[in-house]
Amino acid sequence: MSVTNEQPYLIEIGPVDELPQNTGKTVRVQGYEVALFKLSNGDVRAIENRCPHKGGVLAEGIVSGEYVFCPMHDQKISLSSGHVQPPDTGCVTTYPVVITDHKIYIDSRPLSKEVCE
Ligand code: FES
Repeated sequence: MSVTNEQPYLIEIGPVDELPQNTGKTVRVQGYEVALFKLSNGDVRAIENRCPHKGGVLAEGIVSGEYVFCPMHDQKISLSSGHVQPPDTGCVTTYPVVITDHKIYIDSRPLSKEVCE
């Protein structure tokens, strides 16, 4: 897939090769803080950077498989769905990621909604 002018909602973040594996990175997209993660399998995930519990910075959490553990109180959050795993509850917004020509793009459309489903 390539990014075209008809996709202004795709915001270029940077080269995928510069994103370390299994370590979060905070990026600002249109004024919003997003936590970016490259998983062991090379997939890239983008989620809201604030834990729904008490606002822990999720980009500073420990990544394990498809999950990040909040650095403040260790709640486990899915990097795919944004859901906090039981017994805890809550969720964070997830943002679709597109990788094309070795560059990461975030779909900015969910940013202004700040909803999780
Ligand atoms: S702030 Fe994230 S688990 Fe408490």
